[in-house]
Amino acid sequence: MAIFGDEKQGNNEFVVTPWHVAGKVDYQKLIEQFGTDEITQELLTRFERLAGGSHHMFRRRVFFSHRDLDKVLDDYERGRGFFLYTGRGPSGPMHVGHLIPFHLTRWLQERFDVNVYIEITDDEKFLEESRGLTLEQSRYWAYENALDIAAVGFDPDKTFIFTDVDYIGNMYPIALKVARKINFSWVRAVFGFNQQTNIGMVFYPAIQIVPTMFERKRCLIPAAIDQDPYWRVQRDIAESLGYYKAAAIHSRFLMPLTGPEGKMSASQRESAVFLNDDPKTIRKKIWRAFSGGQSTLELHRKLGGNPDIDVAYQWLYYFFEPDDDRIKQLHDDYRSGKLTSGDMKSILIERLTEFVERHQTSREEVKDKLHLYMREGRLAQRMWETKFGLEE
Ligand code: TYM
Repeated sequence: MAIFGDEKQGNNEFVVTPWHVAGKVDYQKLIEQFGTDEITQELLTRFERLAGGSHHMFRRRVFFSHRDLDKVLDDYERGRGFFLYTGRGPSGPMHVGHLIPFHLTRWLQERFDVNVYIEITDDEKFLEESRGLTLEQSRYWAYENALDIAAVGFDPDKTFIFTDVDYIGNMYPIALKVARKINFSWVRAVFGFNQQTNIGMVFYPAIQIVPTMFERKRCLIPAAIDQDPYWRVQRDIAESLGYYKAAAIHSRFLMPLTGPEGKMSASQRESAVFLNDDPKTIRKKIWRAFSGGQSTLELHRKLGGNPDIDVAYQWLYYFFEPDDDRIKQLHDDYRSGKLTSGDMKSILIERLTEFVERHQTSREEVKDKLHLYMREGRLAQRMWETKFGLEE
């Protein structure tokens, strides 16, 4: 059984599936259970040399695990190249955690000058009945989310953002070839489907696998580890269809505002800061966030706080404070009690407000450029006109 921590197995420690994360996630255990590889210092050093730079989300092992990253680097060195693929399920407004893979993907595009494909799964979010979305609603959010994604600043000539419902005609031939290779008992085991699961969901994994086959090169997928079950299935069938096994880099989950259990999730509104929250809402949410401080200021000064479970510190560490010296200082000062939970929250509020404001400005600016990513940029045009037979 592939889903670690599935409650049905009697393991209620933690659960990680593409649709649900609960409990305190043990990332080391996930590496073992999912059969992925740790990003070692040696691999990271080689990666940074080829990238010509370093990213704090790698240095700090926010991206902690991979499949075949070494092979991607081999291909790059040999001039064979690779491409990037990531995505979003448009269930509503996006939260700051969702931006982690997109920011990293943009950075990778800049460093390696490669094509990026971004799938927006309006079909998946409609089919997931527990969301209660109409197809029109998930289609609406697909375009709202596409703006947030484009606002991250991808190269409009080398990026294709598409929704499944719009692009399905082009994807269908590969989806069929993929689907014929996967039987029901296999997806039932990997994704936890049951007799009540609607048949749209049963077919859906084929759709999320298709973009890994958009080019006859190796595909590298930056995403949080919850999406890995798809890549596992892909890797078992890709070569038999004449494609490469997908490579992936896996991130941890940005901690929810409520503390160290589960993940920040749009379906639990109290767990997240959304990209359309105003400064007042952000301030209010961060002030209420779970902290690693002591119960009184006096005790805190004496005993110090615990940065490992402090939401404000964790968010700064994962995403919002890229300066290593500064983050170490914050860590040490919090541990020693010099810095209070209130201080840490104020620092995060400032960073986060600035970040969200900058994001909202880019989002406004990108509104009249979205057609480039979705239809008219160089890559988008080719994808519509040639049915992605990029090299055929
Ligand atoms: P979705 O919309 O659930 O999530 C979008 C991306 O955000 C990651 N993510 C997080 N990362 C860090 N911290 C969190 N708290 C957090 N929550 C979510 C997800 O891993 C994902 O990378 N089925 C997918 C859409 C999809 C996709 C893909 C994602 C289609 N093709 C290829 C990644 C790669 C979904 O519903 O993602």
